Amino acid sequence: MKLPPGMTLLSPDDRSLLLDIADAHGTPTYVYFGRTVEERIRQLRSHLDGLPLRLLYAMKANHAVPMMRTMLEQGLGIDAVSPAELAYALAVGFPADRVFFSANNMTDEEMHYAHGKGVLLNIGELSRLEAFGKAYPGSEVCVRLNGQVGAGHHEHVITAGEKSKFGIPVEQIETIHALARQHDLRIAGLHQHIGSGIMSTETLWKAISVILDASRSFDQLRFINVGGGLGIPYRPGEQPLDMTSFDRLIVAPLKAFIASHPSSNLQIWFEPGRFFTAESGVLLARVNTVKEGTHRTFAGTDSGMNHLVRPAMYGAYHHVVNLTRPDGPERVYDVVGNICESSDFFAKDRAVAELREGDIIGVLDAGAYGMSMTTRYNMRSEPAEIWITQEGSTQIIRDRLTLDQLVEFALGAR
Ligand code: LLP
Repeated sequence: MKLPPGMTLLSPDDRSLLLDIADAHGTPTYVYFGRTVEERIRQLRSHLDGLPLRLLYAMKANHAVPMMRTMLEQGLGIDAVSPAELAYALAVGFPADRVFFSANNMTDEEMHYAHGKGVLLNIGELSRLEAFGKAYPGSEVCVRLNGQVGAGHHEHVITAGEKSKFGIPVEQIETIHALARQHDLRIAGLHQHIGSGIMSTETLWKAISVILDASRSFDQLRFINVGGGLGIPYRPGEQPLDMTSFDRLIVAPLKAFIASHPSSNLQIWFEPGRFFTAESGVLLARVNTVKEGTHRTFAGTDSGMNHLVRPAMYGAYHHVVNLTRPDGPERVYDVVGNICESSDFFAKDRAVAELREGDIIGVLDAGAYGMSMTTRYNMRSEPAEIWITQEGSTQIIRDRLTLDQLVEFALGAR
């Protein structure tokens, strides 16, 4: 069986490092390999070389401080979708002109806050564009379009198309122009993001070509932001995004578009989240209970859907490895958590090297939409988080909350 890239990146040295971390810091713990993040940034950049480019990072995927600092050092900007994401990005050190504010269904308060911080707003509703125009006539703004081409690894993550709440339908472009004229707004950018976990370069291009066509009626554009959405392989044997086809179907036509565009300073922006971070992350958990049911064997861990909700929420596949005993005979398990819900699982009917109570498992490719989607459901703490630098040293990002802290928080929140 071919191992997924996330696994091949785990050398025996990495495994023993992960076991050392589990020993020293306990479980559950998210661990991120900084080298993988840098490698993915380099990889995408090398394919986009030659385009007038800006790369943003969709921080909703993972906002751990060292992750953010890596993006900052690598010269990326930030796609922020809430006032706190925006304030935090600024606090980490991103200059306001590298932050893009894409909150959907924005309130007046959020709009004033973001504008006051000097960041560019990305607006996906006509009524918000009008409110922005009234409040800040003469300003620059970006509009998010819905070009009616959506895609994604699950229905819940498709963010364009007729069923999607996101973006202004391309069919309403005339109204965008009318509002811009009325309030003297400069439409400096067009944006779209069609969904997440997309492995088809054809679909990505189909969507991009809609927004490129739409861009021809806007004469003050500085950039076209084609969003994120680049998928990664999660399953053994699944192929990564085909970068040869990415070059041919997306990069080459984008270069041709830029060359033929009358504006000399038009940039193309991409804003991935998952592609940069997913493969860098491993969730470490300890097997507490191995239980023979009537028809299945359950491996119960000290983590669960409160820490990685993707399997419960999207039926998402994450590869599970036994780090303590990787070479044992394979057995089939439901690998589950300690949360009081039947949707609390990491894997079902999954062959894993035989698990014994006390073993440490690694849930792979958990660096995107893992920690950032945690909850304290059942009054259990978030996992600890650890960063492994390019040089291989470990840094604690955060600890788990203690039982006392959890109780204090609950009492205080009454
Ligand atoms: N830009 C915008 C406006 C977005 O809404 C998103 C993700 C991204 C960029 C980054 O998308 P990415 O490159 O990571 O696919 N929780 C789901 C994914 C939800 C993505 C939401 N928006 C999951 O775990 O699969």
